[in-house]
Amino acid sequence: MHIDFLTLFPDMFGYLDMSILKRAQAAEVVTFGVHDMRDQATNKHRTVDDRPFGGGVGMVLKPDIVYQAIQALGLPAGARILLTTPQGRTFDQEMAKELSGESHLVFLCGHYEGLDERVHEHMVTDEVSIGDYVLTGGELPALVMTDAIVRLLPGAVGKLASPHEDSFYHGLLDYPHYTRPAEFMGHGVPEILLSGNHAEIAKWRRREALKRTYLRRPDLLPTAPLSKTDLAYLAELESQSRGGADEGEQG
Ligand code: 6GU
Repeated sequence: MHIDFLTLFPDMFGYLDMSILKRAQAAEVVTFGVHDMRDQATNKHRTVDDRPFGGGVGMVLKPDIVYQAIQALGLPAGARILLTTPQGRTFDQEMAKELSGESHLVFLCGHYEGLDERVHEHMVTDEVSIGDYVLTGGELPALVMTDAIVRLLPGAVGKLASPHEDSFYHGLLDYPHYTRPAEFMGHGVPEILLSGNHAEIAKWRRREALKRTYLRRPDLLPTAPLSKTDLAYLAELESQSRGGADEGEQG
């Protein structure tokens, strides 16, 4: 996969050379191109924005600058051009999976100044947001999405770590993890994890993931793939929470 970033703040992309993304580049799973849109400016002040038609505060990024920046990439046909904007579709794990199947992505990093509407209408294939809050620019969202996408590519994450067991991969939150020491400041770890019984440990982890999702993110349950055993356990949790507040936790 190749990912291009069009930005006015190329210095923000140091994150690409850290951790998983650095490793994915070293493994030749992905290559990145960071492009300063200011390089497309033609005057000596390197101007990329102008005052809004109709008046008002703020400046607007010029469509000709964005167009030239996209042209300079020499994109293959079918490359997705994603504009980061709070008005876009909300990015989630499903979309990360979908985009991890592409061979070429472009992130056009939107800006607090706003972009000429003709960019939205004629130059991008997708508009994406990372959630309902306002950020100053699209650089952090582009990095967030890149991280989520690249870690799904085969060979990006080491053999031992597994993106397939992460939260959301099976539509549920993650189960709790523990390591040594077995006793820390008076707090132990669940006995089952020390038992060596891998089948029982797997069952316990599944139940913990279900319990957490039930308590913290019940909105995820209707779309999560659940077995009969899962549903029976959820029914048990439901009856506990309705009837027996004094029954205590099970499993
Ligand atoms: Cl993609 N851009 C900006 N500026 N703010 C955001 C966002 C994107 N997603 C959430 N907030």
